[in-house]
Amino acid sequence: MEQVRLVYTSLVQGALPSYNDLAELLRVSRAGNEKLGVTGVLCYAKGVYLQALEGDRDVVSRLYGKICHDRRHKNCQIVVCQSIDRRRFGDWSMKLVAVDNALLEGIELQAMDATQAEAFLGMRADAERRRVP
Ligand SMILES: Cc1cc2nc3c(=O)[nH]c(=O)nc-3n(C[C@H](O)[C@H](O)[C@H](O)COP(=O)(O)O)c2cc1C
Repeated sequence: MEQVRLVYTSLVQGALPSYNDLAELLRVSRAGNEKLGVTGVLCYAKGVYLQALEGDRDVVSRLYGKICHDRRHKNCQIVVCQSIDRRRFGDWSMKLVAVDNALLEGIELQAMDATQAEAFLGMRADAERRRVP
């Protein structure tokens, strides 16, 4: 079965999510992704989401279709969707990667190209792995 990694950006629709909103979104996402064998990371900053979804091509494209219809965000745009030999975020059913404002200076999540988005999420994921629990 072919595996892919799909990365997209979207804009928050309505009120900006609170910490609790994000926690609830993650809870539901993890439960769903565990059943589907999907892994990935979700980055949220300043009204923009950047998310990577990894798994079987059909599963990921169906899930992306569902996520796109979620009214909590709009303007979903695929940055990259490519076949992968191995997962980059295989340790997480969905991980919220922290981004502080200092890091975001000069970085526009919704303006990243495929290479920038992959590098950015990979870097943030590595930083999460290094964090002392
Ligand atoms: C930015 C964002 C990312 C999301 N990521 C996922 C995800 O990775 N997996 C998932 O199952 N649902 C995700 N969701 C939630 C889905 O859109 C949907 O609400 C959830 O899967 C519940 O679907 P259900 O009502 O069919 O069970 C996400 C929603 C948003 C707004």
